[in-house]
Amino acid sequence: MAKDNWRVGVAGLGTVGGGLLTFLSEHPGFAPAGGTVSVTGVSARSRSRPRPFDISNLAWFDDPVALASSPNVDLFVELIGGSDGPAKAAVEAALKLGKPVVTANKALLAEHGAELAALAETAGVPLLFEAAVMGGTPAVKMLREALVGEEVVAVSGILNGTCNYILTEMEAGGRPFADVLAEAQRLGYAEADPTMDVGGFDAAHKITILAALAFGAAPNYAAAEVEGIDQIELVDIKLARELGYRIRLVASARRGEGGVAVRVHPALAPLGHPLAETSGALNALFLEGRRIGRIFIQGPGAGAGPTAAAVAADIADVMTGAARPVFQAPAAALKPLAGLDAAHQATKAYLRVMVRDQPGAIAAVSETLAEVGVSIDSFLQKPVQDVGGVPIVLTTHATREAVLLDAVERIAALPQVLGRPKMLRVAPV
Ligand code: HSE
Repeated sequence: MAKDNWRVGVAGLGTVGGGLLTFLSEHPGFAPAGGTVSVTGVSARSRSRPRPFDISNLAWFDDPVALASSPNVDLFVELIGGSDGPAKAAVEAALKLGKPVVTANKALLAEHGAELAALAETAGVPLLFEAAVMGGTPAVKMLREALVGEEVVAVSGILNGTCNYILTEMEAGGRPFADVLAEAQRLGYAEADPTMDVGGFDAAHKITILAALAFGAAPNYAAAEVEGIDQIELVDIKLARELGYRIRLVASARRGEGGVAVRVHPALAPLGHPLAETSGALNALFLEGRRIGRIFIQGPGAGAGPTAAAVAADIADVMTGAARPVFQAPAAALKPLAGLDAAHQATKAYLRVMVRDQPGAIAAVSETLAEVGVSIDSFLQKPVQDVGGVPIVLTTHATREAVLLDAVERIAALPQVLGRPKMLRVAPV
């Protein structure tokens, strides 16, 4: 695909689009293969919105499909976002016309990755998406390229900067969830719809993509189990800390008997564990292989500069003639990953039970746990103000999740117990 100059169309002029335009205008000859890159056309929802970069010299397209189809565009960069709608239509249009596509769109790849891979491979053009996962931290190339000679058994980590920022700030400042979320939105970490972040869906899109790459399968977003941080209360952050843990939103894909468990949920990481020490909007990932053992990477998962750097790296790959299947096997051979039933997996758990301050309450809880065979690892009863009742907090030894859920139901039904116990898993997961 050698060319002296690549004419790039950029659809989506938000944080990442702006970062990319700025970088390419300052470094048009950045790619190692030589040649230059010039942005020839742009598209976004509003042409007149004030922006900290100049688009007055670029051809404007109201419709990203028209931009993708323009004869003046050789390579289409999709930074619109969203699994369907204009982003999907424009990517499909570009691929059908035989144009390489670079995208940061995790929802699109996680939900339609297999069909887009088939389109790209039929057209014989690359579809690249380094920026879709961990922003500027190269996780996708790690799995697509560096680890193809390894048998990966698990990938797990922190893939949503907004959630990590919220959890970090709630703990550091004793601040409520809603306050910190508003700040994350102001700082530009959050998705247009923050439910995608705090509900765990953004991390689920990302781990779905990493699972497909790690295990050579079609992305299967529907098989991911997703729980976000919207139910995490300050009291749990404080009590977990007393027990020596921090709460993190952990995304994981782990090979098991007959399938792969792909999950996103809050988990307690012991203080000193790299996930507990990953603070603010940073992302972090463990990659585990049979022979290599564990690799740990940590870095920015969002933001204009870092994410634009990942997009630029993909543009450079297109310029050098990148020619790999989109996932780890030709699209026609890809099958969706078989999921694994979480109920059969074992985990250590944190349980917070609010009890009436009366004799026999602790005994009733511990007897119930003993009845179902759950063994207690650590235990804490600490008065906490303004939460109603007295919290009993304990961690368990590793136990099958089905048994833990049964224990939660039984404890909830005890007359000494107020409300439903809060259960969180303990990392590593
Ligand atoms: N909303 C995402 C995050 C941005 O907070 O990590 C990058 O995908």
